[in-house]
Amino acid sequence: MTFNEELKVKVEYIESVLEKYLPQEEGYAKTVIEAMNYSIRSGGKRIRPLLMFEAYRLFGGEDDVIEPFMAAIEMIHTYSLVHDDLPCMDDDDYRRGRRTTHKVYGEAMAVLAGDGLLNYAFETASRAFDKLNVLQSNDYDAKTIGRAIGILASKSGIYGMIGGQCADIEAEGKDKEKVDEKLIRYIHEHKTAALIQNALMIGAVLAGANEVDLAKIERVGYNVGLAFQIQDDILDVAGTFEQLGKPIGSDEKNQKTTYVTINGLNKSKADVEALSEGAVNILKDMGDGNEFLEELIIYLISRTK
Ligand code: IPE
Ligand code: IPE
Ligand code: MG
Ligand code: MG
Ligand code: MG
Repeated sequence: MTFNEELKVKVEYIESVLEKYLPQEEGYAKTVIEAMNYSIRSGGKRIRPLLMFEAYRLFGGEDDVIEPFMAAIEMIHTYSLVHDDLPCMDDDDYRRGRRTTHKVYGEAMAVLAGDGLLNYAFETASRAFDKLNVLQSNDYDAKTIGRAIGILASKSGIYGMIGGQCADIEAEGKDKEKVDEKLIRYIHEHKTAALIQNALMIGAVLAGANEVDLAKIERVGYNVGLAFQIQDDILDVAGTFEQLGKPIGSDEKNQKTTYVTINGLNKSKADVEALSEGAVNILKDMGDGNEFLEELIIYLISRTK
């Protein structure tokens, strides 16, 4: 199989895992559940569950205990997008090729759908405990699952993604001198790299990786996450709506200083490459090796969506 064929099969598997864990659209809360499912079902690259699954395999994981966590990370990521698109944040009308959640369901329902996805992510991840009785391997126990849930929470919260979104919003409209390289790195590390680290670290923890390898995988997540957000900033000026499925020029519209406005397109592109290659080099001699994961990181350098 070529890399692209393998990627397609894996993304289809992730879609089937997500379907398994989505809530039923029924009862008095039906509308908010519909809005949650609309946001999740509109596609997306599914990079975070994919990275989680590959990190799990890198360290020899083979059970389906990873599945509720794969669904949970995509729920948290999707909630962050639903809220990011709201009029009070980036005010964008399209996401993943469809109208944004607030455009379809209204702002109140979009706020609730984001909240709903965040909470449902933890309900979903907690279902990993149900699997303890039927697991074949002794690689983990309730403590390991608890630790994974802790990572899921902290990397998404004020010391992770929410912290980054806070600094991102406060930096809007500020002059270039005030949004320096250090601040832009804080923003990118937290708003984006934190969820990538989250995914990779949960995969590693559930597969029983040791502390040294866990610290290395966190570093891999930093590099990949920073590269991913720089590429997102590049595509905001150099991409197309058709390919991205979201508006281009959103950063300029919101007067955001980005990695590209500070460093220019050429240096930004070179940095995406260097960070990604750095990540692959750290991965090279870890665990049992995972060629697909290395290829995926290199593939992301030239992504157009
Ligand atoms: C978009 O993430 C938000 C960023 C952190 C740049 P993705 O580019 O992974 O979005 P989807 O999930 O594929 O829609
Ligand atoms: C968003 O960054 C990161 C999140 C935590 C959602 P952006 O605002 O640049 O993401 P897009 O471009 O809207 O996907
Ligand atoms: Mg934003
Ligand atoms: Mg945005
Ligand atoms: Mg963007």
